This record gives sequence, structure tokens and C-alpha cells, in this order.
Amino acid sequence: MKQFNAATDLLQNAKHLIALTGAGISKESNVPTFRGKDGLWKQYNAMDLATPQAFHRNPQLVWEWYTWRQELIAKCEPNPAHLTLAKWEHNGLLKTLITQNVDGLHRRAGSTQILEVHGNLWTLKCTKCTYQSRLSQPTQGIPLCPECQSNLRPDVVWFGESLPSSIMDQVFKELQTADIIVVVGTSALVQPAASFPLIVKQNGGQILEVNVETTPLTTSADIHLTGKAGEVLPQLDKLL
Ligand code: APR
Repeated sequence: MKQFNAATDLLQNAKHLIALTGAGISKESNVPTFRGKDGLWKQYNAMDLATPQAFHRNPQLVWEWYTWRQELIAKCEPNPAHLTLAKWEHNGLLKTLITQNVDGLHRRAGSTQILEVHGNLWTLKCTKCTYQSRLSQPTQGIPLCPECQSNLRPDVVWFGESLPSSIMDQVFKELQTADIIVVVGTSALVQPAASFPLIVKQNGGQILEVNVETTPLTTSADIHLTGKAGEVLPQLDKLL
């Protein structure tokens, strides 16, 4: 309870609160994480599914996998953790939400100030021209560009690819401005996102981590709350 009160104080005194989320925040919505016990990378080889080389080698296989994830996520609903962050945005507490998730559940929960640093699997881009589009339902087969007939790919960031510079400019501005960053449901293993909280700390800010277990970030966190995001965030909200 002491930690919860300390966390509540931190949030109540925040001047520019931002959040960083990972796959763990969507676990209670039945979206699989990547590195957990039944994580995607335990079942599938990331190098065969989430790299530009894999897509070049076998676009059919890669699209089968993204269509499967789209169909799975289409059946999922935002959970109380997503809804709490959306509420905090709407009541002016949370300024910006930086997410590594491509599932789109934060947007469906009502969050608007979102920076999707790894993209969104409901968006497409052409492998040749500048065509981009947003999906309303899962794809079938390999979608083709209506402008140049080349293969379309999911507009997500694959391993070995850099994050969109336009979004990263906004991210770094937020990391320099924030005095508190709440980090929810990430293993803090994948760069550059894993360093975002440390940049806030270097700028004199504080880190509040929420996770069912400790991570490499925990030693740098000012407060670590152990628990499920869908339970901890609503509990914190009640205390605010
Ligand atoms: N509540 C809070 N945390 C949870 C919950 C939960 N209900 N369930 C799991 N977690 C935690 C796990 O303990 C773990 O630390 O969420 C984290 C999920 O870690 P990963 O599966 O590694 O996901 P993430 O950190 O988002 O991965 C980063 O890696 O594969 C790439 O691009 C992909 O964005 C992803 C990036």
C-alpha cells in the first residue's frame, strides 16, 4: 500500500506526465505478448516474419501471419488499463502516450495523444511508391497497391528498421519535457524504446513502472508496482 500512496503522490504532483506502454498492457485483452511464457516469439521465428528480408523472401507467409494477428485483435477489446490511460488524457493528467504496441487498442479506448513508435498493423504502405491506407478489417491474401500494383506491407517497424523520424522527433520532445513517465507492460529489452524512460530520468524526471515482474528498468525506477496493468492502473485512479 505504501508504494501505491507514493505512486499516487507522484501522479498528483506531475506537471507533464507521459506514458510508455508495451505488449503487457494488452495481455488482459487476450493479445499475446512477444516474450512471455506463451509469447509470439516463443512460437514463431521473428526473423521469418518480422524483417524486410522475410517479406522479400516470402510475402505470402508474412501476410498470413499479420492477417492471423488482425483477426485475433479484431476480437479483442481495450481493458481497464487502456481505459484508465484514456481517462487520464481526457482529464488532462496524461499529456502523451508513447506505445510500442501495433494493436490499436489505445486508440479504440479513446486515447488521442498517441505516438505509435512501432506503427500500427491496421495500416498499410506500398513497398515501392508513397501510397498508404488504413484498414477497417483484416486483409485477405497479399494486398496490392492501387497506384503501382506493387505489394503492400503492414505499416509496422520490423527488426532492423529504424523508427519513423517524424514520430521520433515528437518522442524526444516529450522525453525532454516530461517530469514523470509511467511505464506499463514492457520488458524494456527492445531499443530505442527501452531507453526512453532513462532519458526522462537523465533530464531530472521520475519513473513509475507497472509490470507483473521486474525488468532491466526496475533498478532505475523510482517506484515499481508489481501487478497486472488492468488492476493496478484503475486502483491508482481510484486513489487520485
Ligand atoms: N500487466 C502488466 N505487465 C504485464 C502483463 C500484465 N497483465 N502481462 C505481461 N506483462 C509484462 C511482462 O512481464 C513483460 O515484461 O509485459 C512485458 C511484455 O514484454 P514483451 O513481450 O517483450 O513486449 P514488449 O516489451 O512490448 O516488446 C517490445 O518487441 O517484439 C518487439 O516490436 C515488438 O513492440 C514489441 C517490442
